[in-house]
Amino acid sequence: MRLSQDKLSELIEKHTCVADDVSWNRFSSIPWQDLQPELLTAKERSAIAFVNLIEDHLPGYFTEYMQLFPINPDTPLEACMYNRELYHFLVRWAQEEDRHAHVLTNYQLRAGLMPLEQLQQELACEGRKQFTIKFTEPLQVFTYALLQEKATLLYYKQLHQVVREPVLKFILRLLVKDEARHFAFFSSIVGAHIEEFGEQAIPLIKVVLQDFKMPLHNTLTNYWRRAMITCEAVGGHQYAEASKALAKLIHRWADPAARLQASTMVDSTQKVHAV
Ligand SMILES: [Fe+2]
Ligand SMILES: [Fe+2]
Repeated sequence: MRLSQDKLSELIEKHTCVADDVSWNRFSSIPWQDLQPELLTAKERSAIAFVNLIEDHLPGYFTEYMQLFPINPDTPLEACMYNRELYHFLVRWAQEEDRHAHVLTNYQLRAGLMPLEQLQQELACEGRKQFTIKFTEPLQVFTYALLQEKATLLYYKQLHQVVREPVLKFILRLLVKDEARHFAFFSSIVGAHIEEFGEQAIPLIKVVLQDFKMPLHNTLTNYWRRAMITCEAVGGHQYAEASKALAKLIHRWADPAARLQASTMVDSTQKVHAV
C-alpha cells in the first residue's frame, strides 16, 4: 500500500515549506548563562539522561529508514521516485532529531550532570546497538512514528510544565515546537493513507497501535526502570493520549465503514505502552 506520488509530494512540500523557515542554534540560541542546575530534582536529572539516550539513537533510526525506503540499483524506478521524494522529509527530520540529541548532551555537560567522556561512552555504547522499527509496510512505519512523536511531544510538554530550571525549560519549549511539527507531518501522511485506501488501511494501523512500544525498550540498559523514573519526574505520563490522537485522525479522514472499525480498535487499545 503506497500513497500516490502526487499526494506524497504535496505533503512533503507543505511540511518542508514550514520547516525551512524554522531554525534555532543549538549553541548560540540557548541562554546558557542562566543555568541553575541546583534547581533540578534527582528524577529530572534521570529523565534528561534518559531522553538524551532516546533522541541519540538517531543514526540507527535513520539507517533503518534508508533500508526501508532505499534508492539504489536493486529498487524499481517507481519506488526510487517515491523514496527520493520521502528523503526530502527524512533528511530534514533526521537533522532536527540530531539537534535534539546534541542540545540535550550539551545541557548535561554544561549543567555538570555527567562528565564528557562518561557521557560520550554511554551514548556510543547504546547507540551502536542494533535498532529495528519492526514494521516494513510504509503505513505502519508512519503510524509507529506518529505515535512516537505524539508520546514524545506530550512528555516534553509535561516536563516543561514541572521543571524549574530555566535553561532546561527554554530547551524543552524548542523541542515541543519541533515535535509538534513532526507529529503534524505523520498525522497528515497517515490521514492521507486512510483517505486513499479507506477500510483497507485500518487493520494495518490497528496492529501498530496494539503492539506499540517506544524505541529502545528492548535494547537500552535498564530501560523499564529508567522509563519509570522518567514518568515519575512529571507525575505520570498520559500514554493513552497518543492513541486518542490517532483515533481522532481516523475519525476525521475515514469513511463510515472505516470509522466503525476504528472505534472498535481504539476501545480495545486504550492503553498504549509508551516511553
Ligand atoms: Fe526529538
Ligand atoms: Fe520528533
